[in-house]
Amino acid sequence: MQPVAFHPRPGKGGVKLATLPPLTLYIHIPWCLKKCPYCDFNSHEARGEVPERAYVDAVIADLEAAVPGVWGRRVHAIFVGGGTPSLFSAEAIDRLLTAARTLLPVEVDAEITLEANPGTFEQAKFRAFREAGVNRLSVGIQSFDDERLAAIGRVHGGDEAKRAARIAVETFGRVNLDLMYALPGQDAPGALADITEALAYGPEHLSAYHLTIEPNTLFHRHPPVLPDDDASSDIEEAVEAALARAGYEHYETSAYAKPGARARHNVNYWRFGDYLGIGAGAHSKLSFPDRVVREMRFKQPRAYQEGAMAGAAIQSTHDVPAADLPFEFAMNALRLADGFALALFTERTGLSAAAIEAPLARAEALGLVERDAFCVRPTPRGRRFLNDLLGLFVPEAQPPQKG
Ligand SMILES: C[S@@+](CC[C@H](N)C(=O)[O-])C[C@H]1O[C@@H](n2cnc3c(N)ncnc32)[C@H](O)[C@@H]1O
Ligand code: SF4
Repeated sequence: MQPVAFHPRPGKGGVKLATLPPLTLYIHIPWCLKKCPYCDFNSHEARGEVPERAYVDAVIADLEAAVPGVWGRRVHAIFVGGGTPSLFSAEAIDRLLTAARTLLPVEVDAEITLEANPGTFEQAKFRAFREAGVNRLSVGIQSFDDERLAAIGRVHGGDEAKRAARIAVETFGRVNLDLMYALPGQDAPGALADITEALAYGPEHLSAYHLTIEPNTLFHRHPPVLPDDDASSDIEEAVEAALARAGYEHYETSAYAKPGARARHNVNYWRFGDYLGIGAGAHSKLSFPDRVVREMRFKQPRAYQEGAMAGAAIQSTHDVPAADLPFEFAMNALRLADGFALALFTERTGLSAAAIEAPLARAEALGLVERDAFCVRPTPRGRRFLNDLLGLFVPEAQPPQKG
């Protein structure tokens, strides 16, 4: 639908938007069966019973409190992520989605995705998720190889991953499979075997992530032996070529889709759209006619639940200064293979294209982007060296403006 129109007036941060971007809803579930040693998401090992009912009560209270900030705006997609949302019962997911539909104008054809872990697959439960309104499943497969899965500390083996992929496609039709590559002990033929197995289920979408060692993870403290840089880039090239041959568009750094099957919530995020993030540690980006606001909710589930029930789930909030918007926009939009239209930059930030002329000219001279009068897109080199490209948009990296 068309964004809501307003009469623009500049706010404190110097922002002035003529229209508001599309809005999606993210709901975070912060528990997993077991914490994976590479993972820095806000996820906690479920020791014993997860306080499902109390958490859903808190999320609903949080959503009720958040509604005035997005009043009247349609929701185009919902993403229930984690953590492992498939740990929750179908009744809990049903309560969450019913509350979202009651409190917000959710589009009738909204894409509603739920993240699932192969260690939590029971067919009847997944049918009930579907009946609750989930119409797309995102499954954390990572690999189908028992040895690779054990090396990255996954709770499931290859057979469970295969069963999960099969049930997901049979039950939902619309499925994303997450794979990781450049795993300990992996080579290009091993990574290709995972891709071939994933393709056999016919998912409409695949995410292939290069394993990264994040601070504050077990792998950071006890690093595994990983493929060296040459071996990693052989694996990466083999993965990209196999997915291109199979007809998947490599539309974002790690995302591949059949035509028409791009992930709507994620694409909105990368196009610098708005998202309301509800649940422990969730982030939001919300635009108003005179400002762009970022919010973060309390990270610890207990602190979040107490806060949400007292009408105070938000830990921090800040207005993004206009000077930071070019970098924030680039950080998202340049992940997309199609890049962006300059008109979209102006619509989302309220700034004229002149605000990014200097970094764009430098990026073009370095062969990192190509552009015409209307559009900018990263070159293959720009996609490979994305951090270098984004570095050109950091406010301090730009020469001081005259006048
Ligand atoms: C929040 S998880 C969602 C799925 C579910 N929690 C699971 O793992 O089965 C999102 C995805 O991010 C990817 N991921 C997480 N940590 C990563 C890391 N350090 N390096 C690369 N990919 C990572 C995994 O592919 C994972 O499936
Ligand atoms: S199951 Fe997913 S979210 Fe949970 S710890 Fe593992 S990778 Fe992280």
